[in-house]
Amino acid sequence: MSDILRMSFAIDPSDHCGATRAGHHRARRPGRARRVLPPLLIVALAGCQGRQSVLNPIGEDAVDLATLFWVMLGGAVVLWLLVTGLFIYVTRFRTAEMSRRWAEALIIGGGVVFPATVLAGLLAYSLPLMATQRMAGDGLVVHVTGEQWWWRVVYETPEGARVVSANEIRLPVGERTAFRLTTNQMIHSFWIPALGGKTDMIPGRENVMSLKPIETGVFRGQCAEFCGASHALMAFEVEAMAPEAFEAWLDREAQDAVPPASAAAERGAAIFAAEGCGACHTVRGTDAIGRVGPDLTHVGSRHSIGAGILPNQVEAIADWIQRTEHLKPEVDMPQYDHLSREALLDLGHYLKGLE
Ligand code: CUA
Repeated sequence: MSDILRMSFAIDPSDHCGATRAGHHRARRPGRARRVLPPLLIVALAGCQGRQSVLNPIGEDAVDLATLFWVMLGGAVVLWLLVTGLFIYVTRFRTAEMSRRWAEALIIGGGVVFPATVLAGLLAYSLPLMATQRMAGDGLVVHVTGEQWWWRVVYETPEGARVVSANEIRLPVGERTAFRLTTNQMIHSFWIPALGGKTDMIPGRENVMSLKPIETGVFRGQCAEFCGASHALMAFEVEAMAPEAFEAWLDREAQDAVPPASAAAERGAAIFAAEGCGACHTVRGTDAIGRVGPDLTHVGSRHSIGAGILPNQVEAIADWIQRTEHLKPEVDMPQYDHLSREALLDLGHYLKGLE
């Protein structure tokens, strides 16, 4: 990458000095390309890495999709070279007229038979890939409901126990987990690029998919269907965990909230109750039993808050509560900007303590 960066700045300004007007024009072109291409390449290559990239697959299905991408890309490059080569050949080197028989053979062979064969081959290769994503899971089912603009998450174990969570997905590595996806109002699309393909969430129906992580790690999912003002701010973290670690986490997630452990957290809990936060949010084991907003019983242990948009830190929680409408336009949660900074930080300590 540093070579590319160096390339973008290593442009010799004297490379067209003394050229004729026509020559000057020709000599400038490579300079322009060298100026424009490297930054474009950097942008393009940046998409290949990171926690939200289809080209950095850590799911069984994502590996298939990435392979499909590279096969298609390779095929496209070969075809492009072939067509461009033919074009140069017939325009520069073989300008003599072709016989009618040859021309017809070229049109039918190159325009009908060849594309039909290539496309049929690609279809035969890619169609079976769709089936794996629709496969049944190994037992665990995760119900995800798209909300405005966050994710309601319910884990259902093979034994039938249900654990309510929100805005984060945790999965056991090496197991295929089934997802049951729906939404109440808008159409959303559930997508974890590092794990597999996307599936739409449609009001009134339940779409089913399954994913199988093959490595541990933390990744990012994102709503992939435009769903309103804060569509781009509808994300979530995904953690693929060793199966034993996942079991331990799910056991803890199923328990009631821990009581406040500091004076600030205690004051925060009192403010949480006095401001009526429990009308919309649940904190299991307390009087807060609202179901409008995300379940906050273990919000303190999540990787992020606000559906993937802010780090899970006391300051950020205070900012979020104070300025929800600013940070996530048209969000349902009102902003509590009448509270003092101290009160907001107390709330932050309380919620961060709910691990
Ligand atoms: Cu939800 Cu876009």
